[in-house]
Amino acid sequence: MAFLDKKGLVLVTGATGNVGRCVVSQLLKMGVPVRALVRNPDTADLPSGVEVVRGDLSVPDTLNEGLEGVEAVFLVWPALPISFAPAVLGVLKQHAPRIVYLSSMGIREGLAQQADPINDFHANIERLIEQSGLAWTFLRVSGFATNTLGWAQQIRSDGVVRWPYGTAARSLIHEQDIATVAVRVLTSDRHNGAKYVLTGPQALTQVEQVHAISQAIGRPLRYEEISPEIVRQQMLTQMPPAMVDGMLNAWAGFVTEPEPVSRTVEEIMGRPAHTYSEWAIDHASAFRV
Ligand SMILES: NC(=O)c1ccc[n+]([C@@H]2O[C@H](COP(=O)([O-])OP(=O)(O)OC[C@H]3O[C@@H](n4cnc5c(N)ncnc54)[C@H](OP(=O)(O)O)[C@@H]3O)[C@@H](O)[C@H]2O)c1
Repeated sequence: MAFLDKKGLVLVTGATGNVGRCVVSQLLKMGVPVRALVRNPDTADLPSGVEVVRGDLSVPDTLNEGLEGVEAVFLVWPALPISFAPAVLGVLKQHAPRIVYLSSMGIREGLAQQADPINDFHANIERLIEQSGLAWTFLRVSGFATNTLGWAQQIRSDGVVRWPYGTAARSLIHEQDIATVAVRVLTSDRHNGAKYVLTGPQALTQVEQVHAISQAIGRPLRYEEISPEIVRQQMLTQMPPAMVDGMLNAWAGFVTEPEPVSRTVEEIMGRPAHTYSEWAIDHASAFRV
């Protein structure tokens, strides 16, 4: 099967984010014309060769210019109210590109409402996309390995990660693997209607993740179990309570039931997904003093 079925223009939203930035770079390397939608072109810091357009998902009219001539859209829905989604999809519909939506593996099929607010939010966006009449593919992804960059400051300061649920096991995925699958799907219409569950190749406990970072930077690190309530109070300064509690409940659940592992990255790409240890080596500089 040829890797690139299509070389039409791709619009990448979230292009300055963890995954979107990788999608942009990989499309460029493949010679696919790419346009990045950003809120602030002056600070976007994207590679030359990328056409950068200004747009904001919370102001749907600003998307029209970026959608001219676009064949496929990589769509992320950051921490934005879902109320903007129908208007965004209305604008997309006028240009009729294929949509590749970055979703969550925690979604359970057939539920009117998901058990937690984060998966409920993604399930509702998916439902709206399905109802839009646009061609779509959903990438339902496990926890991002980049989430553990949240420990970087603690690691750099005294080498101790103070965090709850040390035995919670997650199948964290390298952002480059998400991007590689996204690029494959964005450049072909063979994946229309697919809901791909993407994960890393194994589930590691948080204690094991800290050990992998320690190996990557060649410095002993320690995991110190703390009360979830302490972290809850810290997180409440950045996120709404329902989202904080949803995340803490998910971690508590991964203690008894590790996050599942899928082989979809390998099936689509013909090579295994990167391990968390490989990710830690790639990001070692973030954890070094
Ligand atoms: N973290 C996980 O474990 C996980 C798991 C499954 C799914 N997801 C989903 O993955 C998605 C992307 O994550 P990520 O880590 O790649 O992103 P990220 O690094 O958090 O970056 C967010 C991106 O969204 C853009 N953005 C924010 N508000 C915007 C707006 N109003 N209009 C247009 N763009 C806006 C930001 O651009 P500027 O700020 O530069 O404008 C930035 O590029 C999220 O939607 C999340 O729900 C995450």
